[in-house]
Amino acid sequence: RKKVTVQSLQRLYKKNVPITVMTAYDYPSGLMCDKTGMDICLVGDSLAMTALGYESTNDISFDEMLHHSRAVARGCKNSFIVGDLPFGTYETSANQALDSSIRFLREGKVGAVKFEGGKEVFEQVCKIVSAGIPVMAHIGLTPQRASALGGYKVQGKTVEKAKKLLEDALALQEAGAFSLVLEAIPTPVATFITKRLTIPTIGIGAGPHCSGQVLVYLDMLGMFDRFMPKFCKVYGEVGSITENALLEFKKEVIAKSFPDEKLHCYSMESAEEAERF
Ligand code: KIV
Ligand code: NA
Repeated sequence: RKKVTVQSLQRLYKKNVPITVMTAYDYPSGLMCDKTGMDICLVGDSLAMTALGYESTNDISFDEMLHHSRAVARGCKNSFIVGDLPFGTYETSANQALDSSIRFLREGKVGAVKFEGGKEVFEQVCKIVSAGIPVMAHIGLTPQRASALGGYKVQGKTVEKAKKLLEDALALQEAGAFSLVLEAIPTPVATFITKRLTIPTIGIGAGPHCSGQVLVYLDMLGMFDRFMPKFCKVYGEVGSITENALLEFKKEVIAKSFPDEKLHCYSMESAEEAERF
């Protein structure tokens, strides 16, 4: 498989081939994204909650994001790696956002950055893109702003709110974003925005007519126990498989049936050595 680039993503989009995006948080998940041919591997700040157990995505530090994205990059060689700028690393100014993005590429080994917001981050997107760093935008349900949104709620349910989302989408495209995540918005709204844009939309809870789809790795594997959004489908019950494996291990150790003398143990160099010992 060839290395995915912004240009090859744009080609998929032009040919109407849906773009597959998966989040990854560490070496094994990065490896899996790569192995299964995901176009984009997103080091999402959802890792704060799903992989680190924080209460909110806003609890993760930039250093923690960098630590995880380096691990992802060691496993993921061909998918295009996008890193989520965490809360507090891009809001203040376009310069702050560019400094953070440069650090993400240098220290986090990502190929592009993503961050949340509409028109209000227009300057940030312009600045980062003009420095030659691709930007993925993210509107709709923006978890870093959950407090202001009144929780994790579907966005754009009225015509006025849907219009605001479209304006945001057009502004972000104009600023130079190469792609746009649409999270938790009604299908007709996401479909309309997708039709109006000339860059690919990546949906999560945004219906089947986006240019691509993204899921959160540990959610789609049934490995996150706190809650499950409506938009997530569990493709593999890896959580219960893991639980059963650990229970089995515990049972066998207590029963002294693991390790098996023939299968899992080492012998000495020769029968004679064993005898002497
Ligand atoms: O953090 C994340 O995983 C995300 C995706 C849901 C788009 O932002
Ligand atoms: Na995110």
